[in-house]
Parts: sequence; structure tokens; C-alpha cells
Amino acid sequence: MSQDNIQSTLQEDRTFPPKHNFVNTAALSVTSLETLYASAKQDNELFWAEQARQELDWQHLFTTTLDDSKAPFYRWFHDGKLNVSYNCLDRQLKDHADKTAIIFEGEPGDIEHISYRVLHQRVCRFANALKNQDVKVGDRVIIYMPMIAEAVIAMQACARIGAIHSVVFGGFSAQSLKDRIEDTGAKVVITADGGHRGGKIIELKATTDLALVEGCDNVKTVIIFKRTGHEVTLKPGRDIWWSDAEQGQTTDCEPEWLPADHPLFLLYTSGSTGKPKGIQHSTGGYLLNAITSMRWVFDIQASDIFWCTADVGWITGHTYVAYGPLATGATIVIYEGVPTIPDAGRFWDICQRHKVTTFYTAPTAIRALMKIGDEIPNGYDLSSLRLLGTVGEPINPKAWIWYHNIIGQQRCPIVDTWWQTETGAHMIAPVPSFTITKPGSCTKALPGIDAAIVNEQGQEITVADEGGFLVIRKPWPSMMQTVWGDDQRYLDTYWDHFNGRYYLAGDSARRDKDGYFWIMGRIDDVLNVSGHRLGTMEIESALVAHDNVSEAAVVGRPHDIKGESIFAYVVLKGERPTNGIDDQLTDELRKWVATQIGPIAKPDDIRYADNLPKTRSGKIMRRLLRTIAKGEAITQDTSTLENEDILPQLQGKA
Ligand code: WT7
Repeated sequence: MSQDNIQSTLQEDRTFPPKHNFVNTAALSVTSLETLYASAKQDNELFWAEQARQELDWQHLFTTTLDDSKAPFYRWFHDGKLNVSYNCLDRQLKDHADKTAIIFEGEPGDIEHISYRVLHQRVCRFANALKNQDVKVGDRVIIYMPMIAEAVIAMQACARIGAIHSVVFGGFSAQSLKDRIEDTGAKVVITADGGHRGGKIIELKATTDLALVEGCDNVKTVIIFKRTGHEVTLKPGRDIWWSDAEQGQTTDCEPEWLPADHPLFLLYTSGSTGKPKGIQHSTGGYLLNAITSMRWVFDIQASDIFWCTADVGWITGHTYVAYGPLATGATIVIYEGVPTIPDAGRFWDICQRHKVTTFYTAPTAIRALMKIGDEIPNGYDLSSLRLLGTVGEPINPKAWIWYHNIIGQQRCPIVDTWWQTETGAHMIAPVPSFTITKPGSCTKALPGIDAAIVNEQGQEITVADEGGFLVIRKPWPSMMQTVWGDDQRYLDTYWDHFNGRYYLAGDSARRDKDGYFWIMGRIDDVLNVSGHRLGTMEIESALVAHDNVSEAAVVGRPHDIKGESIFAYVVLKGERPTNGIDDQLTDELRKWVATQIGPIAKPDDIRYADNLPKTRSGKIMRRLLRTIAKGEAITQDTSTLENEDILPQLQGKA
């Protein structure tokens, strides 16, 4: 094994073939899936052109499938015209206008069912309200809202009139909001008085006011939806209630027919360094892959109740809440709050009451719910579930098996979906009636997606289990278009590494002997211990496989001899040891990792904490942990930390 490449140590041999019951009732037959994979392989462009004709309603059909004259600024279907909101709403009206589009549940327990007919009316009325505020095609609109149906209505309304929305997660600070308002040059901010989260009120309007205190001169209007009803102040001339903005507006709004490469939205992602990047997504290509993945990966069917727990502030909440499910005529659940209000059974209670069939969440949520134990989920009727999904980070096999046994009751396939804000939709994921799954692997690339693992020179790694860079070798419809206002950064971040040939995902990964992909972690997180390059994921997974451990994060610390030593932060299932010290357990865990993956992966240090530092989207802040492991002072912004109180524990000071 070459020392340049990333070494794999994780051994996971369990396999789960598609379940008979699932295969028998799946929308797509095994033969039609075989045809899909084969035709995509034969002629990628032709394949996507056929999908685009079949899955989207065009006002003007495209004649060019892919314009690569300015690659890697690829343009898909660009001379075709369509409207995303039309494709999500209007085309459902003919046959199932009265079908429920959205089941909304507020954290306090209020419930609302919205049919496609009513959703269409509300979107049109609000779209007219936006036009009345002088919002035009191409204008940017910031959406800073709680996780309520109106957030989706606002997004769809923008899409209807060709305004480019940028949703900012409701948990972000005034500064983060201000940065995004300024970078987009938005004309309008749509917010709410507040939202319910964790039993408290999130002060969205007050935070918006703070963000707008100085600068942001481009913002002419702030529209406020009344959610909580608590008192907020309105600035005359700038602020208007949502209901007042809608006064006198009709429910007819002709969709704006837009070129397929018109930007649909901007979504900011923060990498490990630099200011957040405004990832720009298109109209036609984006929606196409939102739809195809709903069909292939989620096997979406007319009777499904689809619940993706992600907030609309993240890409998952765009593709699998606001767009993909509606474009396929599904019924979705939107839940405003946290999983622990009024108690840790809330998710399962929602699944039971609304008869959720498809449940899609993040490994961090699964691990948190697993930590609480089996008793709570076992107390609910989860028999409506037929498919489970995960996204956001590698799911360790132990959590996968728990999800499968306790939530899916060994009946539901699990789809572990690898993708990114930048890719717009699923890229590597199982097709549940077709793919044999393996716990911890996102399995294989979807039809039309050319994923590969390459070495530093860009050559494909064909040796089983040898790690390298995950790349995508052919353009795909839902790929990002650019970084908003910064084409150079798009080139530098995603294309420069392999001279414009491949899209660099930034993840390290390996393929096993069956060609299955196993994500090993972000390239930036790879450890180099005595010349061995180790992904963080596998060591963490080994730690979590120990009976006492619930979560773990591993980082490297500079070491005179080894280059880097392994520093592990561990959250136990039970109580944290007094003062964070338990030499016996530490010794046991080190030996455990050595037996699980080999002495090379043995952590040099283990520190116990009640929690790990996570970003708002649930990703572990490894950069912060690296700083702490080095014993350096924390200089990075910790204001977005879920739980700042754990810092002293992580630093070994409490
Ligand atoms: C990064 C993208 C895509 C929606 C949510 C995150 C990691 C994502 C998986 C998975 C292993 C995964 C990767 C990727 N990731 N899904 N199934 N298995 N890792 O979007 O914030 O843009 O993050 O999340 O590292 O590059 P994002």
C-alpha cells in the first residue's frame, strides 16, 4: 500500500440484500433499474436529456443538453425554459389538487394540513406580494425563518417570479445574517417575529434588526410573518407584516418562464477556512436531480408520507423538503422544533401520528436518540415506516444497525446518501430495491454520476480499500454553477486540484472489493501518524463500537517523532468520569481500538466530555478540537456552538 494514500482500517462485512416486501412494492422494477444504469453508462448526456424531457414540464423544450464551451462553468439545458414552482405545484393540480402537500407541526403542538390547491394559492398570493414590493427576476431575497410551512411558501414564491432566494438558518447570528445579506445584495428580507425551538422563542425579527443596524443599504423591505405573536417593533417605511403585504393580492400568478440555467438559489456553506461561499444552483438541472433522486433513492410513491428532518437552512431542506418531494407530488411533514420537546420521543410520536413512511435524518440525530436507549422508540407504533435514510456524515456501523433494528424493525431498507451542498442532490447512494447495503457505506454512484477515487496524480485507484480523493469525473445536472460573485473561488476550490478535469469533493474515500464507496472523512481532517495517513471516521467508528461510548471525535496533534499523534474526544453513554479522568477506561479504550483496527490507530490521548462541539448543521467542529488538542488558545468564532459550556471540559479544565 502506498504511503501517499490514505489507509483504511475499518472492517465491516455485514451485508443487507433488498427486502422482498420492499422490492415487490417498489415503484421501479429491477429490470427498469438495470436499464437506467446501463443507458446512463452508454451515453451520459443522452441519458440526462431523456430524464429532463420525461421528468420536467418545459414551457420551451431545450435543444442543447450540455454546453461545455466554458467548462467547468457547465450549462445544462440552457436554451430550455421552465419554472420550478410550476413544476412543483401547478402540475399537481390537475389530478390531485386536494391531496395534502404539507403536514405542518409546530413545536408547541399546533398542526396544519395544507393541500396542493391551497399551497398553490398561498404561493401565488405571496409571489404577488413580492412583486408588489418591486421584486423582479434576478433580484435576491433573504429568507430567515423558523422551520414552518411559510418558509417553503416563501422559497416557492421566489422561484415562481424568478427571484433568487438565499435561506439563512434561523439559528445563525446577526453577523452571519448580515454577511449573507451583503454578499447577495438582497433587496428584501423575509423573516418572522420568532420561532419555537427547544421550548424557547428564537428572536428572528430582533436579530434581523441587529443585522440591519448599519450597512445593508440594499435592503428596502423586511416582510415579517407572525408566528409566535410576541411583541416586536416594526421600522416604518421598511418593515411590513406578511399579512399586510398580501392585502389585495390575488391567488393568480403566472409563473415566470426562465432559462434552465437561471439561478434558483444561493446557499452559503462555511468550509474550514475563509468566508462562507454562496453556492449557486440552477433551475432546470437542479430540479431534475432533486426529482430523479426522489424516485431512485426514496422510491417516492403516491401514498408516501415523507419526512426529512432537515431545516430549510441547509441544502437537505432545499432538495428534500422544499423542492424534490413537491415536484414528485408527495406529502411532506414539516416539524418546527427539536427532537427532545416535550420529551425524547417526539420524532417517533410524529412518525406514529402522521403515519410517516419515509424518514430521513442525520447520523448525529440517530446517535443522540440511540444514546437515550431503546425503550422510548419501542413505546411507539413505527409500523408505517418503510424506508429510512441518513445524510451529513459517515454513519458508523453501530448506529446503522441500531437504526435498522430499533427504528426500522429490520423491515426498512436504509439509504446512506452521500452528497454535498455543491452537488445539489444525492450522488452516491443505494437504490433500495436494487442495491445490497453494507452498514457504513453509501454504496455506489447513482445512474449518470461518474464518481471515482483517485490518487494525488489524478489516477484512479483500483486497489481495493486503498484510500484517496473522491472526485466526480463528468458534469451532472444539479452541479453548482459557481460561487456567487467569485468565479475564481469556484475554480480554485473545486477544479484546480486536478487541472479542471475532475470535480474535487474534498472528501477522502475508498472502494472495497465490491466497488462500494466508504467515505473516510474530509481531506483536511486526515491524520498522518508515522507516515500512515488515517481517516478520522474509522477511528471514531471503532471507539463508538465500544459498549460504553456514544460519540467520538478524533483529531491529530503535532508530535515530534510520529508527525501527528491521535487525540480522541469521547462522549460516554453514562456519566462523564469525575473531573474527566478515568485511567482504567482510557486504557481499555486504547486497547480496544488497537484490537479493532490495529496499534497504529491507538489514541495517544482520550478526553471525556458531555458533548462534542458541533456546527448548527450537526457537523463536529474538528478544527476547534485541533486547536484545543494543541493546547492553543481558541481564536475561532464559537458563537455558533450548540453548547459553549463544554469548552472547559474539552480543554481538560473541568
Ligand atoms: C459533506 C457535505 C449533503 C447534505 C448535508 C451535508 C459529508 C454528507 C455523507 C454520507 C459520509 C457524508 C461529506 C460531504 N457527508 N453525506 N452519507 N456519508 N459523509 O451537506 O454541509 O454540504 O456537507 O458532508 O464530508 O463532503 P454539506
